[in-house]
Amino acid sequence: MYPLTRLRRTREFDWSRRLVQENNISSSDLILPIFVKDGKNIKEEIKTMPDVYRYSVDNLEKIVERTIKNKIPAIALFPETKKEKKDNNGSEALNENNLICQSVKEIKKKFKNEIGIICDVALDPYTNHGHDGILKNNYVDNDLTIQILIKQALLQASVGCDILAPSDMMDGRVIEIRKALEKNKYKNTKILSYAAKYASNFYGPFRDAVGSTQKNKIDKRNYQMDYHNSKEALREIRLDIDEGADMVMIKPGLAYLDIISRAKKKFELPIIAYNVSGEYSMLKLAIKNKLIDERAIYEMMISFKRAGSSAVITYFANEIVEKYL
Ligand code: PBG
Repeated sequence: MYPLTRLRRTREFDWSRRLVQENNISSSDLILPIFVKDGKNIKEEIKTMPDVYRYSVDNLEKIVERTIKNKIPAIALFPETKKEKKDNNGSEALNENNLICQSVKEIKKKFKNEIGIICDVALDPYTNHGHDGILKNNYVDNDLTIQILIKQALLQASVGCDILAPSDMMDGRVIEIRKALEKNKYKNTKILSYAAKYASNFYGPFRDAVGSTQKNKIDKRNYQMDYHNSKEALREIRLDIDEGADMVMIKPGLAYLDIISRAKKKFELPIIAYNVSGEYSMLKLAIKNKLIDERAIYEMMISFKRAGSSAVITYFANEIVEKYL
């Protein structure tokens, strides 16, 4: 009690503030998403995501090298698939020469295990309707979709993907993928499940980046989670742990820090936050327009750590290491 206790004492100097600091972030806590596209020598900026680019496969070397130099442990790859290659069933997902397979092979050839590669297991970059699975009477069919996801997962594992990240929110896909990996000798392929993925309005720029934006606004609420719920997220996480996930993701991140915090208290495995595209663009644009100071990026990262994230997937990853760490 005052005056015996004065919390301002330890706030007096930089050294004393650092001494009592409870949370921190290092480059090992970051994951960089990278967008790839067809073509040669391409590096094009994504309109809705300033300073984020799509790269052709032959142009990935520099960005991956920079990420390794920054000691960021992993990247997550996302493809912008050409319209002509999209169909109702997302069959391009199973093409062993698709953009993701080409990219994984190229990166592994050049960089071996210097950096981990995460691949999304979901069909939305490959379907002409933009949904994450197979439609039956305009409804994403859970069990039919899982059958394709298993094949997609095995293909990605076979070309060298280190971490499979099912992001589709089908029930039971983690156990089916895990069983298939065991059976096919991919015992060490890791699964980072998008366990609690909400049907969010913050994914807009990403859908633009991978070209899955539809004329009529796409509604994924009958498979992604309802953002009014939090206990349900814990059930989702528990199931994915039991089904063999090594790490779980909560997505989006910034508007869902309460979920991260609750999950951290309840479970022992690593919780990874996805600082999604809408959260990125919101802040990036405000900084570009000088409405907010750029240190807000670092502050936002610390909030993920404070909530209990082991790591954060963020489009700011390299910028954070280069400016703030
Ligand atoms: C696809 C997927 C999405 C994101 C990651 N994987 C979009 C969606 O579910 O519609 C969003 C990432 C972001 O917004 O940064 N299943």
